[in-house]
This record gives sequence, C-alpha cells and structure tokens, in this order.
Amino acid sequence: MSTAMVASRALQERIDSARKLTDYVFSLLRPEALYSRPIPERHRLVFYLGHLEAFDWNLIARKTLDVPSFHPTFDKLFEFGIDPPVGQAASDEPSDWPRADEMRSYNQRIRRTLDQLIEQAPEEIANVAIEHRLMHAETLAYLLHNLPYDQKASASTPLNYSSRTLSSFPMIEITAGLATLGQRSGSFGWDNEFAEHQVDVPAFRISKYKITNGQYLDFVRAGGAPPHFWKRSRDKWFYHGMFSEVPLPLNAPVYVTHAEAAAYAGWAGKSLPTEPQFHRAAYASSAAPEASNARERPFPWGHAEPSAKRGNFDFHQWDPLDVDAHPAGDSAWGVSQLVGNGWEWTATKFGPFPGFEPRPFYPGYSQNFFDEEHYVMKGGSPVTAACMLRRSFRNWFRPNYPYVYASFRLVED
Ligand SMILES: [Fe+2]
Repeated sequence: MSTAMVASRALQERIDSARKLTDYVFSLLRPEALYSRPIPERHRLVFYLGHLEAFDWNLIARKTLDVPSFHPTFDKLFEFGIDPPVGQAASDEPSDWPRADEMRSYNQRIRRTLDQLIEQAPEEIANVAIEHRLMHAETLAYLLHNLPYDQKASASTPLNYSSRTLSSFPMIEITAGLATLGQRSGSFGWDNEFAEHQVDVPAFRISKYKITNGQYLDFVRAGGAPPHFWKRSRDKWFYHGMFSEVPLPLNAPVYVTHAEAAAYAGWAGKSLPTEPQFHRAAYASSAAPEASNARERPFPWGHAEPSAKRGNFDFHQWDPLDVDAHPAGDSAWGVSQLVGNGWEWTATKFGPFPGFEPRPFYPGYSQNFFDEEHYVMKGGSPVTAACMLRRSFRNWFRPNYPYVYASFRLVED
C-alpha cells in the first residue's frame, strides 16, 4: 500500500471509531428521551443527533469541497449549538424538531457521501470534524448525566468506592522556570492553541491531589454551596453518578463550578492555579529547574502515549475515581492526575494567545467566547478522548455552569 493509502485508511478508521462512540452514547437513551432537554441552557438531545452529521457535512462537503446541499433546512437547523448565560433557557417545544426517522436518513446519507469525499479534504479539516465529534461525545455524556436514570440504559457496573480516608494532602513545591503554552506551528490544533509561546513562572506550591469530596464537605459544613453533583437525603450526602447514586465518595475529586472552586480557594486561604502554573506543574521536568523548552514533556507522566494506567480518561469510566488512583500518571514533580479524572479549573480567563488568528472555516469557534465570561480548564475528564489530552488543548466554560466534569486544585505563592 502507498503511504497515501495507509494515511487515508487510518483517517477513515478514526472517523469510524468516533462515529461508533457517539452512536454508542445515543444508544444509551431510551427512545422517549430523545426530545428531552436535560440541561436548560442547552438544546434538546435531538439537536445533537442532527448536529454531529450536519457539522461534518457543512464543513467538509459544503464549505471545503463545494458540494451542493440536499437538505438546506436541516443543514441550517443543526448548524450550531447554544451557550446562553445560566438561567436563560431556550423555549422551543419538542414538536418544533423533526422526527427521528427523518433525521436518521439525513445522517445516513451524509455519512455515505462523506466517506467517498473525505480523502479530498485537507487533513486539518478532517481533524476538526473528528475532534468536534469527540468533544460532543463528552458534551452528550454531561447531558445524559442529567437525565433521570429511568430514561437511560445502564451501561456500567455499579459504582464501588473504597471507604478508606486519605491521610495527607501535601503541597508540592514547583521551582521558578519557563512554561510553553500553545501548539507548535505545523501540528494540528484549534485556533486558540496558537501561537506557541513561553511564559516565565515564579516558584509556587500546588496540591498534590485534586480537591476531594471529603475536603469540600468541610467547606459545605462551614456554609459553602453544595455542588450540582451532590444530592442530600436524610442528613447524608450522595454522589449522583451517571447511572447510580452512591454515598459521597470522600476520596474522589469534587466536581464544581469555577465560582465554587474559587470560593473554596478563598475559604482555604489559597488560589486556583493560572494556566501557566498548571503547565509548569504538569509538563516541566523537575530535573531541570532552569527548564528550557526541551525539558518539557508532552504529558505529565512523560512521553508515552495516554493509556488506562496513566489516568481516568478516554471513556473507560463514566464517573471519577479516587484522586490517588493513578500514580503512573504523576508529573515529574509528583503531582497526581493533572490529566484525566476531571478537567481542572484555572484562574485564567479564556482569551487569545499572542498571534491568535481565527480559522476561515470556523471563525467563531474560540473568538465568540473571548468575552471575559469564560475560564480556561485544562487536563481532561473520564470522557475526554485521548487525542484531546495534548498539552496545548484548552477548554473553557462560564463560571456558573455546573454540569461539566470539572475539578480543581489549589496553589500558594
Ligand atoms: Fe458543535
């Protein structure tokens, strides 16, 4: 086989496996749940069924290869999602949306057509389509998390957390040095990952572990707001998992909003890490305190590709594991779970890196969110696909959006 054929087969395999994943997530829905809206600030689930294919179709066929539309109404209806401020819910009715069988034939026709065309699309465009779908696999997981249990098919064994208690929560010293943010030009990344640049980071201390439910419980007992993922029943707290509710797992990371994380930090007399501090703790090599660029590693654990022993990511679990569950994923400094088991909030507002340029095929991807109202998250959650665990990848959310699998840790200067 020629190199080009090998490359195109590898690309088709990535597309097929991303489709298989989103098909699988949809298969967890009971049919009657398709038109429900589990999160008020997002579309009904039915939108995403059309959006995944319509996005690929609009991007690859219509915008890139100039193929005429066979269904302009659906192309437009399913083009973009929504992100209104919390509390400003959409007001459409289930009957405003097309029937599922109509959408399925639209989707099938798109997949068939794109499979014939994909080789003609530039690699960057194909990567955008694949990662867009994988990001939505994660978004769909949040949405499904908020559906009543009887509206989804159970897909995992019951949650089983240990009852031991972690005895110490060390703060680890990170020496002053450089952090490289962003993606090298020539490698794939979304617009907000460019340009690559270095930041000088003064010395600081950071928590070895993500803040646990047990630690956060002390804050709640002192009057802090309980997180969205907690439910209270007869004086006891429970974790509302994807498929079942269990007594609060004290050693698992607490999932919170940015506002809750910041309030906890204030209560504890510490702060949230900045984006450069996160990079320094995750990727610098402690063996080189003078840290040149060459001393930074692509993953907290080093150069090896992500695998299940390094952390809780890539859809092996739906829910978080204990904060000390993956010592093989520790950074060079010994900081645990910087990637996986929950995104990590930073103190940094989402904005452009120096040299930022929007991409002509998706100008609003990042730019629409440079509004001082979104914060950067780094790392990854149990349902973040492995390809998006790269060092330069940035995620962002509003500070009061409570549904994401977002954890945090603390720093002190
Ligand atoms: Fe989308």
